[in-house]
Amino acid sequence: MARILITSAIPYINGIKHLGNLVGSQLPADLYARFMRARGHDVMFICATDEHGTPAELAAAKAGKPVDEFCAEMHKVQSGIADGFRLSFDHFGRSSSAQNHALTQHFAGRLNRAGLIEEVSEKQVYSNTDGRFLPDRYIEGTCPNCGYDKARGDQCENCTKQLDPTDLIDPRSAISGSTDLEVRETKHLYLKQSDLKDQLSDWIDSKSDWPILTTSIAKKWLHDGDGLQDRGITRDLNWGVPVKDGEKDWPGMEGKVFYVWFDAPIEYIAATHEWADASGGDWQSWWRTDKGADTVRYVQFMGKDNVPFHTLSFPATIIGANSLNDGEQWKLVDYIKSFNYLNYDGGQFSTSQGRGIFQDQALEILPADYWRWWLLSHAPESSDSEFTWENFQSGVNKDLADVLGNFVSRVTKFCRSKFGEAVPDAGAFGDAEHALITDLTARVRAYEGYMEAMEVRKSAAELRAIWVAGNEYLQTVAPWSTIKENPDMAAAQIRLALNLIRLYAILSAPFIPDASKSMLASMKTTDDAWPDDVAASLSALPPGHVFEVPDVLFAKISDEDREDWQARFAGTRDAAQ
Ligand code: 2FM
Ligand code: ZN
Repeated sequence: MARILITSAIPYINGIKHLGNLVGSQLPADLYARFMRARGHDVMFICATDEHGTPAELAAAKAGKPVDEFCAEMHKVQSGIADGFRLSFDHFGRSSSAQNHALTQHFAGRLNRAGLIEEVSEKQVYSNTDGRFLPDRYIEGTCPNCGYDKARGDQCENCTKQLDPTDLIDPRSAISGSTDLEVRETKHLYLKQSDLKDQLSDWIDSKSDWPILTTSIAKKWLHDGDGLQDRGITRDLNWGVPVKDGEKDWPGMEGKVFYVWFDAPIEYIAATHEWADASGGDWQSWWRTDKGADTVRYVQFMGKDNVPFHTLSFPATIIGANSLNDGEQWKLVDYIKSFNYLNYDGGQFSTSQGRGIFQDQALEILPADYWRWWLLSHAPESSDSEFTWENFQSGVNKDLADVLGNFVSRVTKFCRSKFGEAVPDAGAFGDAEHALITDLTARVRAYEGYMEAMEVRKSAAELRAIWVAGNEYLQTVAPWSTIKENPDMAAAQIRLALNLIRLYAILSAPFIPDASKSMLASMKTTDDAWPDDVAASLSALPPGHVFEVPDVLFAKISDEDREDWQARFAGTRDAAQ
């Protein structure tokens, strides 16, 4: 039994996420976690909400709520949605937790003691009316490039030009609209990532088994342009982790907080600490290699936009903190699975523009398994992929309704009408049955290989092929005809088919956990042992074992539904920040 630590990128708190966010990190992470648990491994699956930074403050202001209250509410909403999609986190934490405050300050203190922190003086815009510095997004003005009058301090949304706040014409505070602004000096902490460049480069080079998407992005940031730059890890904001050196105040840093991208990945560790505080578990044995985590395999899941932070910034924090060589050693990631983008009907999913299907809306129209299956079987692995309603309808109808659902329904109904609701005991397996078992044995081994390698689309394709093999077998041996000439043989065929339903439930559970539960319940069994021996697994339900015909597993999506949803989700909904 191995110990496997799995983290999914932690979603921003500022709004409900769309389906692209789900398929880019949480869903494949859940698939892997469920599979590894089913294989008997000890899994710790962690996610959280990313609650700091200007987007959180702005979204709270827009909602007219204090930011802590807004975050607490949105955390509950996101947690409910995660349950709705059956994401099986061991803990869904909050980056604003006390544990994360303490750990973030602890890491900053270690980096400081390792000589990796530098104080830098910068010029920043200060609003006299608001009594605070205004980070980029808090300043608006007219774009010098295109004349758009709502350009932000970091970028013009209209012409996409990258800007400095001082470039804006007629700058004003996005909070109060005040134009009473001045440029003031402010001090910030920088992490000297450039000192760690060689170590990071060697470390990335040693990961020859990582997906190309992951290593190519990491290498681009390491070597392109100016290469790995030192990076500011503090901000002039009220909301966030106060800047401290461990538990001690940091002179000159009063009133400042750590940058959201500094504390967010540390929340992976802190969320495990939160889990331990709630459950009595040992979080350090998952994260401290000097306290047992040397035997842990740590896998991260994320969209490609998050790769630089996970291949360079967060490892710089860990490697830097470990460089004190005082025995305290933290775990570095072993494998990073990253994803391209999922597009929506000819354009991009966009949280800021409210375009696409949002996670709460998806669950309002169909159960989780429909989404899970389609999204995972179309995961944007080797390139961006596209959601279209036609494709979604045909994927769900063919794979789930016609292939899997229909198999379960035909077999159970036929058995009920000819043999009653118990596994028939007459007859013996012949050539067709042995051939199917041989074929399935090879396919199940291939499926395991793809799942272990986190090849999501290939895993889905192999699972589909496993379902198809059962259907083809049934079609070929045709028990509804066999029964006329040879009832014993028909009984043997149906005995195998009923056992296939159980096998399918077990194999499919990581993709479609609810349907899998219904299948096991209808087979009246709680034995969900992984089919290490496929032949043995296909006689797990013995003759005489009772079952019941389940309700329809998957309803087909009608053309009418599809058109209706297509129209309903064609526009945009109220945009998040
Ligand atoms: O892109 C995002 O949604 C970020 N909130 C991901 C953070 S992942 C990590 F650093 F914790
Ligand atoms: Zn512009």
